Amino acid sequence: YLLTKNQVDLAGKKVLVTAGGTKETIDPVRFLANHSSGKMGYALARAARARGADVTLISAPTNLNQPKGTELIEVTTAAEMYQEVMNYQSEEDIIIMAAAVADYRISEVATNKIKKNDEKLELKLERTKDILAKLGQLKQPKQVLVGFAAETNNLLQYAKEKLEAKNADLIVANDITGADIGFGASDNQVTIISTKSKRKIPQANKLKIATQILDEVSKLLEEEK
Ligand code: CTP
Ligand code: CA
Repeated sequence: YLLTKNQVDLAGKKVLVTAGGTKETIDPVRFLANHSSGKMGYALARAARARGADVTLISAPTNLNQPKGTELIEVTTAAEMYQEVMNYQSEEDIIIMAAAVADYRISEVATNKIKKNDEKLELKLERTKDILAKLGQLKQPKQVLVGFAAETNNLLQYAKEKLEAKNADLIVANDITGADIGFGASDNQVTIISTKSKRKIPQANKLKIATQILDEVSKLLEEEK
């Protein structure tokens, strides 16, 4: 099922995929993280490679193995991911932001371990840069930009807002409240939206979902020819 209609429809295409959840350092022993497993991004990298693409995977920490035939760049923080993505963005035909990028980082990382001196501890956070929004600003003609929207409520409305605000071509809207789908799960259930279309994908394993996301990307590339 990895290969659909046109087996190597991405041959010669450069595809950049980000994956995993970034980790923001608090002090030498602690970090802020999220529940992303990286599975969706790794499945996208594998599926794109199987269709002939030249794949670079920029990954935050995961427990997953490097997909065969891809270039893997490992990062930890949102700032590192931003930097690596910017190093590649101008050369890519397709960029897929599947990573769960931290929205906030610690304003001042403690050099020494924070001791439990007080009953309450406040951590001061500051916003990270929005990588997808920056990619939307820098978008090359014919480049296809794909983002995700992980939501617990108002899924399609928020997803549409993200599509426009970030100048993406596709947003993969992901309801993360389902027990056996989304974060950490092997399966996913998504709706792929563009400015012109909305396609609901039934629950399936992440490799199948990846294939269907790439089908939509492939259609856009055809249209832009
Ligand atoms: N994203 C990004 N850089 C960030 C935060 C998010 O590139 N600093 C990307 C994600 O990889 C995803 C898309 O933006 O492709 C949407 O992420 P999401 O967390 O759903 O939305 P946000 O724009 O961060 O807004 P919010 O978390 O408030 O819903
Ligand atoms: Ca976010």
